[in-house]
Amino acid sequence: MPSTKEQLSEKKSKRVRMLKGLILSGGKGSRLRPFTYTSAKQLVPIANKPVLFYTIEQLVECGITDIAIVVGDTADQIRAAVGDGSAFGASVEYIQQDAPLGIAHAVKIARDYLGETPFVLYLGDNFLLGGVKTFVDSFRENGANCQILLHPVKNPQAFGIAEFVDGRVTRIVEKPVSPPSNLAVIGVYMFDQHVFEAVERIKPSARGELEITDTIQYFIDKGLDVQAEVLDRYWIDTGKMDDILEANRMVLQSLAPSNRGQVDERTRVYEPVILEKGASVVNSVLRGPLVIGEKTEIIDSYVGPFTTIDHHCRLKGVRVEGSIILENTSIEDIHWPIDRSLIGRHVTLRGGQAVGGSYSLTLGDHSEIGMPEG
Ligand code: DAU
Repeated sequence: MPSTKEQLSEKKSKRVRMLKGLILSGGKGSRLRPFTYTSAKQLVPIANKPVLFYTIEQLVECGITDIAIVVGDTADQIRAAVGDGSAFGASVEYIQQDAPLGIAHAVKIARDYLGETPFVLYLGDNFLLGGVKTFVDSFRENGANCQILLHPVKNPQAFGIAEFVDGRVTRIVEKPVSPPSNLAVIGVYMFDQHVFEAVERIKPSARGELEITDTIQYFIDKGLDVQAEVLDRYWIDTGKMDDILEANRMVLQSLAPSNRGQVDERTRVYEPVILEKGASVVNSVLRGPLVIGEKTEIIDSYVGPFTTIDHHCRLKGVRVEGSIILENTSIEDIHWPIDRSLIGRHVTLRGGQAVGGSYSLTLGDHSEIGMPEG
């Protein structure tokens, strides 16, 4: 409940609010090395679509088409991938953050862009299945000053965590050593213009960042209206390799099969399988759910469940499942199965005869590996 007359009248006047979007794609991505040495973590694909694209699409689905993306070292890649946003039905601008000084710092430097318009702040590495429309709609209508989404997590020490008293959020702590609950504040936040007062007042944390959790705490301490909803759908912070494979698994389960490629008569297909334009499969077994990207060739191979192979790849004499293989990668004659692997772009992997076991690989872009005989 708002505590002052001023806040009550603000609340009334904002029945259905126009919103802007602010997506964060700066930061270092150190937990996803070696991928993030050569590319932005927000561009790692899930079911052949960069995480960041899901984010933009979800904002557009909420009717939010004025979007700014905060970019850092990987600005050029993000710009090249997203462009002016017209491919998404949005108008996208870029805000350069010179150093990753914190999520709240990114909000601070977006002030000119956002003006007085309330906005949705979406962390570009957070992945949410099913979008955020219901939550954004409720923020548009409820007039709250801030709205956060919570999700139970197994490792609360790694997130911003909410503490409750009598069903209301009273405290938000960043990566607590002794977590007050298992409810993480996920990377989708809604704020009104009070956020600029907050980000000016808070101080850098022990890790030297202006924390978004301290920003929300400022709202709570000021008696502003902070609404919290527990998310009822799949969400993951795609910071680590296992999380990306897990998100890939979730998305593949939800996709409908389609075939825009070619499959020869010696190939067996167990749906759901998505073959993108120009993909070709020869003398192989495809056991879905899986996606094969544009102009990718699969020859004499087995591609098993929960695998995504990006465009312009070539697999010959390979057994792979539960993995993501990025664009322009070539794998040949690997006689042990490849499982739970994330293999970068332009990788060349060639093998010989082998006798048993399996590979679990994290290979960055441009890796070249020769497998000796087993
Ligand atoms: O995933 C939810 C968690 O995200 C929240 O529970 C935490 O409260 C919040 O602090 C954040 O924690 P992380 O440690 O995961 O944040 P990370 O440094 O990975 O940054 C999240 C995104 O924001 C990522 O896409 C990079 C971007 N970013 C981050 C910083 C610090 C920027 O664009 N600029 C920055 O200065």
